[in-house]
Amino acid sequence: MVSKARWGQAMVAGLIAMGMGVSALAAGAVTEADNSKFERFKRQYHSWDATKESEEIVDALEGDPNLVILWAGYGFAKDYNKARGHHYSIVDLRNTLRTGGPTGPDDGPMPMACWSCKSPDVPRYIETNGEKAYFTGKWARGGNEITNEIGCGNCHDNNTRLRLSVPFAQRAMDTIGWKWDEATKSQKQSMVCAQCHVEYYFTPGETFVKFPWDLGTQTEDMEQYYDNIQFADWTHALSKAKMLKAQHPGFETTITGTHGRNNVSCTDCHMPRVEKDGKRFTDHNVGNPFDQFEFTCGRCHEQSKDDLEAVVAGYKEMVNEAKLKAEKQLVHAHFEAKAAWDAGATEGEMQEALTAIRHAQWRWDMAIASHGIHAHNPSEALRLLASSLERSADARSALARVLATHGQTAAVELPDLSTKAAAQLALGMDMEGMEKEKATFLENLAPKWDEEYNAKYGGDGQ
Ligand code: HEC
Ligand code: HEC
Ligand code: HEC
Ligand code: HEC
Repeated sequence: MVSKARWGQAMVAGLIAMGMGVSALAAGAVTEADNSKFERFKRQYHSWDATKESEEIVDALEGDPNLVILWAGYGFAKDYNKARGHHYSIVDLRNTLRTGGPTGPDDGPMPMACWSCKSPDVPRYIETNGEKAYFTGKWARGGNEITNEIGCGNCHDNNTRLRLSVPFAQRAMDTIGWKWDEATKSQKQSMVCAQCHVEYYFTPGETFVKFPWDLGTQTEDMEQYYDNIQFADWTHALSKAKMLKAQHPGFETTITGTHGRNNVSCTDCHMPRVEKDGKRFTDHNVGNPFDQFEFTCGRCHEQSKDDLEAVVAGYKEMVNEAKLKAEKQLVHAHFEAKAAWDAGATEGEMQEALTAIRHAQWRWDMAIASHGIHAHNPSEALRLLASSLERSADARSALARVLATHGQTAAVELPDLSTKAAAQLALGMDMEGMEKEKATFLENLAPKWDEEYNAKYGGDGQ
């Protein structure tokens, strides 16, 4: 499938480029978080700025109301949009109902840790004040310190050498033996993305960000890790199962795919070396690789763009079909568990079913939250969804026994889940109240954050 000659050339180019210096920030230096200070790197800067062109907002809950039920009792049931350009990282975090409508620094549902993958102000703040100070307090405490969208300082030091910018990513990479100083060029090109496009959790009590990789990066390794420490992101509002929420584990699911195993890096497809107007540079408009076909897929493959796009679209359809089947079983399991509690089931009777629900949804989520998995590793997506279906079947047969013990043998009926609004109504969620809170926050506090930031650091913030 790959032209050997061209693949060989790509490898040689990679090896030559390997000599380029890469290092962490020099001791004592502080990250320049103001992206506009890097405008002199014209091509990189302007292509980076072009991530603002990917502006479309796609409401994932509207597209698939099952998600509201699966995340009942958790922020993602309030709203969840698909990812768009890096340019929107701060705006979207402020806008989402998940971060609530804080009125002051100690208010609102989320911890500081929520800023961690959104801004070069995060490494700047940690270098200046320490990691503990950064992770202390509520999300709203950081509003007037973190205003620059994802940019140069997230992946580079002030001299545009590639680096890992945050200590929690460095620790995680060390854990799995991807030590920065020993890493290959291609590993580094994926590691910069893996600062954010990974699974992580907030350690209870301290709310530090940690990647759950102590036992490995496979879905089952992380599941075991979380089971061992009895970690739960939340308790499900219907089933009362102790749930795990996968974040965006793109790195973990990509490295085991065909491309990952062949050392094709994230940037080979998403940030290709391009030649434009006679100049060669790294295109910083991280987006859809098909938009740059000749510099991405076309560099290694002989097929046409149409052919490969059709292959990827075909995988997407397969994954989507399996995903909907897995969701259907999970939705039933959550409602059946609720019915069992309502019928008087005891903790002991429910244990087996609740553990099965936890595992089934974790495996489903690892496939679904790994955006682009149909391109990165479609067989892994199908494997995960099949194993989710198996654990849902375990849950539902256990629940059928519990329900029968309590005299219930009729099928548990589902409410209307045909739209996002219907599903949210079925859970009794006060969407109007949340939207009002959010509007007040966006009108009053958010602009103040920008003013305070700009007064302190200069620059134009948001
Ligand atoms: C998401 C990570 C990421 C961000 C954000 C980012 N870069 Fe890069 N940058 C890279 C990667 C990857 C390379 C390629 C380096 C390599 O392969 O060794 C690169 C290369 C470069 C180079 C070397 C020349 C070249 O074209 O390869 C310059 C200069 C540069 N970036 C400047 C910037 C500037 C300026 C910004 C902010 C406007 C920025 N970068 C933002 C990841 C990033
Ligand atoms: C500092 C954290 C961070 C880093 C580093 C990072 N990303 Fe992202 N990425 C995000 C966030 C957050 C979003 C979603 C932004 C939004 O929707 O507001 C995103 C969105 C994306 C998207 C969707 C873009 C679109 O237009 O739909 C792609 C693709 C992507 N990232 C790939 C990468 C790749 C490849 C790298 C490494 C070269 C990388 N990212 C590095 C945090 C990061
Ligand atoms: C072999 C090429 C290739 C490699 C390597 C690759 N990607 Fe992708 N990625 C794609 C394609 C193609 C898509 C879009 C699929 C589509 O059109 O539906 C995509 C989609 C994505 C998306 C979803 C964008 C969205 O808007 O939904 C993210 C995020 C992403 N990739 C991040 C990464 C990260 C992080 C890595 C490295 C760990 C990586 N990719 C490695 C080809 C690649
Ligand atoms: C840097 C080189 C490189 C780039 C860039 C690249 N590929 Fe590949 N691709 C490979 C290699 C190597 C293999 C494995 C070939 C083998 O095992 O025979 C592969 C295999 C594949 C396969 C077959 C295996 C599978 O996963 O189904 C498909 C389809 C594919 N690539 C699509 C793409 C698409 C689409 C893009 C661009 C978004 C792309 N590739 C970008 C090198 C690359």
